[in-house]
Amino acid sequence: MTETTAPAAPAEQEAAPRLSVIGTGYLGATHAACMAELGFEVLGVDVDPAKIERLARGEVPFHEPGLPELLRTHVASGRLRFTTDVAEAARWADVHFIGVGTPQKVGETAADLSYVDAAVASLAAAIDRDALIVGKSTVPVGTARRLAELVRTVRAEAGLPGEVELAWNPEFLREGFAVRDTLTPDRLVIGMHGPRAEGILRRVYARQLAADTPWISTDLETAELVKVAANAFLATKISFINAFSEITENVGGDIGTLADAIGHDARIGRRFLNAGVGFGGGCLPKDIRALQARVSELGLDRTMRFLAEVDDINLRRRDRVVDLAVQVLSAARDGRIRRAEASGPAPTPASVQVLNGTRIAVLGVTFKPDSDDVRDSPALDVANRLYTAGADVRVYDPEGNANAAARFPRLDYVDSLEAAVDGAELTLLLTEWRQFREMDPDAVGARVASRLLIDGRNVLDVAAWREHGWDVIGLGHRFDPERLLRAA
Ligand code: UDX
Repeated sequence: MTETTAPAAPAEQEAAPRLSVIGTGYLGATHAACMAELGFEVLGVDVDPAKIERLARGEVPFHEPGLPELLRTHVASGRLRFTTDVAEAARWADVHFIGVGTPQKVGETAADLSYVDAAVASLAAAIDRDALIVGKSTVPVGTARRLAELVRTVRAEAGLPGEVELAWNPEFLREGFAVRDTLTPDRLVIGMHGPRAEGILRRVYARQLAADTPWISTDLETAELVKVAANAFLATKISFINAFSEITENVGGDIGTLADAIGHDARIGRRFLNAGVGFGGGCLPKDIRALQARVSELGLDRTMRFLAEVDDINLRRRDRVVDLAVQVLSAARDGRIRRAEASGPAPTPASVQVLNGTRIAVLGVTFKPDSDDVRDSPALDVANRLYTAGADVRVYDPEGNANAAARFPRLDYVDSLEAAVDGAELTLLLTEWRQFREMDPDAVGARVASRLLIDGRNVLDVAAWREHGWDVIGLGHRFDPERLLRAA
């Protein structure tokens, strides 16, 4: 839950630093609104005029719970403003946060640093006073030191007045919890390269420090690495349990119980051990790839080789859902034949042909619930593969349809859960939105053609659904076609 608290003056004696945030995507827009919530005057900057216009009207251009309220409050109070003019920010602010994207380069695994480079270069060339530039974007190790040098050279060549320092303060916010993670982070990591950054940032984050948030001041390289290390660890944890899924799918066993049991060991912990269709989004996949690319550049090819396996295990989960859909539909078809012909022919081998023209409901296309982000989304990838194989796919996501349609316009997007499941031979739950976790098996059952469901996130109570005549197959669980045949 996000609480809008009465703004406290960030500094009693000295004038509070004025803040700019360059880049107003998920990270930057959230950071700007949260800094305003902490009592600072903030200027958000982006090169996209349409985005800036919407933000200036108090509209968040993406789905993030709690953010619209903060944005509206602080735009209305005048504490939060937006511009496309980086020079305005350079003249006005004392601290400039860099929150632009570092996406995966097209056709490569490395991160595209052109937006970060451009943001820092344009600021450095326009600042004419003392200031601090604070990188928040996720970057390959070595970037911040290179940028510090860039700032120094650009300014020396132009003969600009004022001291400009550079620091790196990685962001660990999760989509869906972005406001909470920014206002009450579980740690603050600051990489520094100069004498003034620490004092200024301690004032910026005074509220978090007063709440005893761990404060880690370190060098630039450590700060850069902390972020990618955290994401590489989380990705590894998910692929670790998903690798065990490949075993339990073969020999039987309960992947959820296995995760619970090892998770009780405090050294391991239960979080990020949910087996399913795997990780996606704008961070984990690209960060593990960029890290491998960076260590290769450094001549350390073997160091992060295991992350290639982490990535492979993750992508194999998507293959598994498609294979399972084929197996389940093949078994159901054979069961129907048997029923029609009393003792029908022996089961035919599962074939991808079974998808052709078959209506499949896909519930969820975002990479996780409470987000409209479909970047590298396992759910959307699976929906598209089924469509490509000839299935009649109907997709419903509470927030993600529009972004998904921009990427894959030919899928059939519908406006409700009911419309998605109408006449479906098979239902796939691929993003665990609350609406899907709490579905009524009878209400959904009354609409589908067959009560067959693949739970790609292991969130349904399988026993309860079975009582309502459903066959629910959780990812990471063994699928027994004979059971379906007997049931049919
Ligand atoms: C992640 C990091 O958590 C965050 O600290 C960083 O700043 C940005 O990247 P985010 O991309 O918002 O945040 O999503 P996260 O909640 O980490 O989930 C990532 C993916 O892993 C999702 O697709 C999610 O469905 C999947 N996941 C997560 C699992 O498959 N199993 C789990 O147990 C947990």
